[in-house]
Amino acid sequence: MEKNKDDGSNKEQEEEQVVNPWVVSVKDGGKIDYDKLIDKFGCQRLDQSLIDRVERLTGRSPHVFLRRGVFFAHRDFGEILDSYERGDKFYLYTGRGPSSESLHLGHLIPFLFTKYLQDAFKVPLVIQLTDDEKCMWKNLSVEESQRLARENAKDIIACGFDISRTFIFSDFDYVGGDFYKNMVRVAKCVTYNKAVGIFGFTGEDHIGKVSFPPIQAVPSFPSSFPHLFSGNDRLRCLIPCAIDQDPYFRMTRDVAPRIGYHKPALIESSFFPALQGETGKMNASVPCSAIYVTDSAKQIKDKINRYAFSGGQDSIELHRKHGANLEVDIPIKYLGFFLEDDAELEHIRKEYGAGRMLTGEVKKRLIEVLTDIVERHKRARAAVTDEMVDTFMAVRPLPNMFS
Ligand code: TYM
Repeated sequence: MEKNKDDGSNKEQEEEQVVNPWVVSVKDGGKIDYDKLIDKFGCQRLDQSLIDRVERLTGRSPHVFLRRGVFFAHRDFGEILDSYERGDKFYLYTGRGPSSESLHLGHLIPFLFTKYLQDAFKVPLVIQLTDDEKCMWKNLSVEESQRLARENAKDIIACGFDISRTFIFSDFDYVGGDFYKNMVRVAKCVTYNKAVGIFGFTGEDHIGKVSFPPIQAVPSFPSSFPHLFSGNDRLRCLIPCAIDQDPYFRMTRDVAPRIGYHKPALIESSFFPALQGETGKMNASVPCSAIYVTDSAKQIKDKINRYAFSGGQDSIELHRKHGANLEVDIPIKYLGFFLEDDAELEHIRKEYGAGRMLTGEVKKRLIEVLTDIVERHKRARAAVTDEMVDTFMAVRPLPNMFS
């Protein structure tokens, strides 16, 4: 995949790191530089004053992903809060491209955070399953992509979304009608050159790929969901996602005012890294990079012990002397996402960084934390019935979605 070339970024930066919906990589084993990404993409850093406002407006303590800076960038999130403060609600939109049988821990990040936003702000949510996208990019059959979408829907529902406020849809099932009209409105505004600039398409890419971006764009517009938002065309949309999805929404925001719609706002996370280190994101297509929500306790233990990149020193003597390099240590990074207790995290960081704690001990604690999350998720998923999936995916009004 060719690199991103839009927004006047300089060539040197592009070569250092590539972040787009399909590729996340950094040259020569370096780390993703999120400050550079903010500059390059033109989004804003999520600062403490916005986090404080979320706390004040919702009366809830900020989610651990906000407190720890996992969600670190945004576009117009302040405007969403301004209008919420004036009494205007909004809706949430997020999604999943079903490329694997189950989700991995990285995918849980936006979904767990979206659930928190839904509960805290009491707003409706639409979740797009881009089975068409994965059919085209991963060369899956239409039927297999649809099957994976339904399997993934179970994992998503297991995150605890409120059935009275949530609509999940598969593109293969839902695209048409007003949604399709919006797709055509968007498509007419984006030249081929612009699409190449944003997404890096090449002459060898099939035209299915080139035609896809409007499909991910239009759930940002309330009129794409007449069964939910009829007569509410000015309702604002907030999209939680990792920053790899930003190109789709740069395009969407560029087009929105030209077709008479609000620009969607975004709140964007960094990546839950691959087991091998922070040069890339946890990736469903690279099984040894990822811990899946279906992994057994033994698989989690083996993967962490075997693959999780350690910042510890080569021998116990050196480790006691120099301590661990926390900047590159994956167990510490993972604990930063999923160990909720701030005091315990700080204690581990201090002891490990000073060499008093060994990698094996930190990995042991991480295995406990992740096994607990995955086991809880598995129990929740086992309780998701086919009827529940049908209900979440039914095209239906949600009469109490704002209450
Ligand atoms: P997909 O299936 O690649 O990813 C689903 C969601 O998970 C985020 N994500 C991650 N977050 C943190 N760490 C990681 N390692 C990691 N890997 C993936 C993605 O950013 C995404 O939020 N085209 C999309 C599906 C989609 C969508 C949307 C996503 C359609 N509409 C609106 C977000 C918002 C896709 O293939 O996501």
